[in-house]
Amino acid sequence: TKLTTANKALCAWFKKKRAEFPWRPLDLFSKRDPYAVWISETMLQQTQVSAVQTAYKKWMQDFPTVQALARASEDDVLLHWQGLGYYSRARNIHKTAKQVVQNGGKFPSNRQDLEALPGIGAYTAGAILSLAFHQNEAILDGNLVRVFSRLSEWDFLPTKDKAAKDSYWEEAYNWANAGDAFLTNEALMELGRTVCKKTNPLCESCPIQKICKAFQNGRATAFPPQKQT
Ligand code: ADE
Repeated sequence: TKLTTANKALCAWFKKKRAEFPWRPLDLFSKRDPYAVWISETMLQQTQVSAVQTAYKKWMQDFPTVQALARASEDDVLLHWQGLGYYSRARNIHKTAKQVVQNGGKFPSNRQDLEALPGIGAYTAGAILSLAFHQNEAILDGNLVRVFSRLSEWDFLPTKDKAAKDSYWEEAYNWANAGDAFLTNEALMELGRTVCKKTNPLCESCPIQKICKAFQNGRATAFPPQKQT
């Protein structure tokens, strides 16, 4: 199908053009530590990549495992969150670490049990399931919303109503199932961050411009809509 072909082009682009980050294994095909994915993706949700790199490295040095994190004091944990903002994320991470250790120290490998943990929502659960456990599970963040909105010229945001949210998640699952989700999901985020940018998108270098309605109509920056009213 068209999506399978586009996904191949997307993943080929990602293999060649991706940036190196401390949370990204050199061997893209190896499974990652769910603890490390949880920490990095929680940090990355509301904070710029540049600020996360330093904090993430120090965090993993000082709290290399979920057990080490569970043993740390709250003050020490909050100190390690410096520069990232939204400190409730750090408090939730500490709570969840203690809970995971209490339950035997293993991360759940299904969406329902992951989303029951403090601070783990649909995005983080999908990231852990795909990037660490290599399940074909979907993610949806601001980058993917922008990409999907442009691909289909969707003039609505997932926050509009339940139908809108379902449309975006359905698209996210279509992509996750079109190939290896552990590659596809991160490639879509990287595409959104570096090519399918909010302003000055680099459509000429986009590996999936062939299937992009907004590109074909020269209207990339008209999507996604500003804010739903
Ligand atoms: N933004 C959030 N998580 C990311 C990741 N793993 N790679 C690229 N951009 C991201």
